[in-house]
Amino acid sequence: MSGLIPQRFVEDLLDRIDLAELIGSRITLKKAGSNYKARCPFHDEKTPSFNVRPDKGFYHCFGCGAHGDAISFVREFDGLGFTDAVEELAKRAGLEVPYDQSARQEIQQTRTLTDALDFANQLYRNALQSSQGQFARDYLRQRGLDAAVIERYQIGYAPGTGTALFDAASPELQGPLLETGTVSNRFDRPRDLFRHRIMFPIRNSRGKTIAFGGRTLGDDKAKYINSPESDVFHKSREIYGLFEAKQAVRQLDRLLVVEGYMDVIALAQHGIPYAVATLGTATNQDSLGALLRQARHLVFCFDGDTAGYRAADRAMDNALELLADGLHLQFLMLPDGEDPDTLVRKEGQEAFQQRIDSATPLSRYLFDRQQAGLDLAVPEHRGELRARVEPLLNKMPKSTLRDAMWHEMLRLCGGRRDWQGPGRASRGAGDFKSGRYGDRRPRVQEERIDVRLSKDSALCLALVEAPELAADTLELCRSDRQLHQARGFADWILEHRLASQKQLISRLALDDSARNRFFRLFDGIEHIPSRDRTLELAREMLHPNQEAARKQRLAALLTQKRSLADLSDEERQELKKLAQQTQE
Ligand code: UTP
Ligand code: MN
Repeated sequence: MSGLIPQRFVEDLLDRIDLAELIGSRITLKKAGSNYKARCPFHDEKTPSFNVRPDKGFYHCFGCGAHGDAISFVREFDGLGFTDAVEELAKRAGLEVPYDQSARQEIQQTRTLTDALDFANQLYRNALQSSQGQFARDYLRQRGLDAAVIERYQIGYAPGTGTALFDAASPELQGPLLETGTVSNRFDRPRDLFRHRIMFPIRNSRGKTIAFGGRTLGDDKAKYINSPESDVFHKSREIYGLFEAKQAVRQLDRLLVVEGYMDVIALAQHGIPYAVATLGTATNQDSLGALLRQARHLVFCFDGDTAGYRAADRAMDNALELLADGLHLQFLMLPDGEDPDTLVRKEGQEAFQQRIDSATPLSRYLFDRQQAGLDLAVPEHRGELRARVEPLLNKMPKSTLRDAMWHEMLRLCGGRRDWQGPGRASRGAGDFKSGRYGDRRPRVQEERIDVRLSKDSALCLALVEAPELAADTLELCRSDRQLHQARGFADWILEHRLASQKQLISRLALDDSARNRFFRLFDGIEHIPSRDRTLELAREMLHPNQEAARKQRLAALLTQKRSLADLSDEERQELKKLAQQTQE
């Protein structure tokens, strides 16, 4: 719909908006000359690297590279689409957005549908608090919900009379209620869809009601019913609990995906406010896409029964095609017979949080599942494993993760010779008499390590070995926005002036919040390269030219002379120095 707002209007609007005032209404700005500074709202930082240039009409973050104008700020910060962002700014500037006629109608209509649903929501909430809601209130109390969480999720009660909603609605609202299916006209007279049910409003990113889920309080065949699809409700795109999670968590960097309304709510009440549920099948491509647009890190929670595993397999299957680098998917299988609601009540926040934190990464889940029932000591079974895994990996886009999983498959299937390449294994070791070069690892092993490690992970590992690389790392992260983990870690190391591994480790040992922040840093890294190799990898990234020169010279010295005795004193010194850098 963006094309339906004239560009001239957008430009005029941007001219009128005072960017400092706009951004200052959302975050705290500090004046710095004619510009303003702040701690960046788009990434986690302690020192302000977010700059606002009101004269030029843009903002820029030197930390994460976030950059844009008033419209992009409102879109990012408020989570709005283009049209809504323009509306928001127009309201600030006291202007009316001049839509093309058909677009205006569409917006008008959308307004009325959500207005009608908001009306229904309010009616249900009032009913819950009224005398007719007594039974529903008792039910919710018996299920352990407190008043605060009922308020937060705006839980309501649909009376059992059958026309309570329709009768209460004004004529202008009755039409939209019918159109959204909240009132049904399949019978000779209009009849409320939800009767004698606990009501869960499903809200969009702006908090407007777009649909409902209703749980029976009687013995209806359908335990839950949901609003049908409508112009404002597209099942596979909506995420229950997302609005509420965003209200509760400022930076939503991980989502826990559960199956039911009650699971989301019980978790929220027990201090885990980032649980959401997809509507319909949790695991189809559209839902998955919608979830990934909200967070790069998803933890899927499934029952530990056969159906749960089947659902998890489906989720994995769909996820493979979407798995770009930088996405992190985990599976949390619950004990048989439990759902998140029952479990979090039984064992409490901490124990449940622990389960979330140690959920199985997708790659491990895949191999575990495909290996089930196979004995890899039997060659036929190794063949079978490969036959199962290979088509799955072929669905994945090209990525570091796919390479790593491919090698894992070959390793498990005993295909070492497949990828080792002839003659390689004899290289490296034994070429040189000096002990130091003699215990160099065979090349092939290093190659295997290379494909397993993303740049981001490699840098994090190097920072653990040598925190003094933090400044250089941060420099590199400025030009490569993919390096999220390394940037955060380096930032933290600099902030606390950790100059040695010893300081780093004692700081982590003492600092709970840092531990919480960084303990997931090395998730999914199954093979850690040697210290030398780690530092070498980091140097290659941080100072590519220097490192190439060093290696070239080292190789030249080594091939030129077969033994240390063949080198001049000077060359021997140089060799020692170059080699030592590998040890540093
Ligand atoms: P469950 O049957 O597991 O229910 O359905 P639950 O969430 O544990 O509910 P309680 O604890 O008995 O109240 C999980 C989800 O599947 C959908 C609903 O979204 C529900 O939350 N569902 C279930 C339906 O849409 N219709 C149904 O009849 C049942
Ligand atoms: Mn349940």
